[in-house]
Amino acid sequence: MRVVLLGAPGAGKGTHCKKIVGRYGLLHLSSGDILRRERAEGSDLGKKAQGYMDAGTLVPDDLIVEMMSKAVKGAPDGGFVLDGFPRTVHQAEALDRSLAKDGSGIDVVVNLQVGDEIVVDRITGRRSCPKCGAVYHVKNMPPKQEGVCDHDGAALVQRPDDTADVVKNRLATYYEQTEPVVEYYKARRDVRDVPADGDADAVAAVLFEELDALR
Ligand code: AP5
Ligand code: ZN
Repeated sequence: MRVVLLGAPGAGKGTHCKKIVGRYGLLHLSSGDILRRERAEGSDLGKKAQGYMDAGTLVPDDLIVEMMSKAVKGAPDGGFVLDGFPRTVHQAEALDRSLAKDGSGIDVVVNLQVGDEIVVDRITGRRSCPKCGAVYHVKNMPPKQEGVCDHDGAALVQRPDDTADVVKNRLATYYEQTEPVVEYYKARRDVRDVPADGDADAVAAVLFEELDALR
């Protein structure tokens, strides 16, 4: 199964991708996670991306399309779930073209819908583990011990782009450049809208219903 998971910053794409991977055994391809890895390694791509990411604007399409095409090509036959990509209509067109070359395509597009106030609360409260990548929220999904990862005891950190100021830019960027991707897909296929304001288990239940129907 090849899934695209769309949604504003903080809609819960990463959180629910982990649940999807657990249930359906798909490969999780997160453009944001790949970029953060490139930055941590100090690669050319990482260096080029960092200014855009810290400001809450998009990394240029050509860099992203090349990076994600490689990731999609390397995915096993079992399929993948895309998180954070495509984020512009240009990226969506490039993805369709690249999959069509191999005679395949996207099986389902899911759109997590969430209000702006919830986005700000979720993003400013997010903490992640630099060691294992686990994601927490100070109120909604707190670790057992404040500031410490449940899995490995590492000190949790806040992403540099998770401040209230940068979130405003990320939301504006989303409405300007990424919401048109939802329309792009709606014009071509069925898009499953999933309300994502509720707690994570309730969101996952609706999401699984949609995806189970495709198996
Ligand atoms: P990226 O890392 O993709 O950030 P994003 O899209 O802004 O998404 P987030 O990771 O912030 O949120 P999420 O939806 O995964 O939410 P999460 O599950 O963590 O991109 C970062 C930057 O990289 C971009 O700004 C850009 O510069 C660049 N970039 C990436 N892809 C690009 C592309 N394709 N093109 C160009 N540039 C690109 O949840 C958030 C918090 O809420 C967590 O704390 C979680 O615990 C909590 N939570 C989640 N769901 C619930 C729930 N239902 N109830 C309560 N709490 C919840
Ligand atoms: Zn950890």
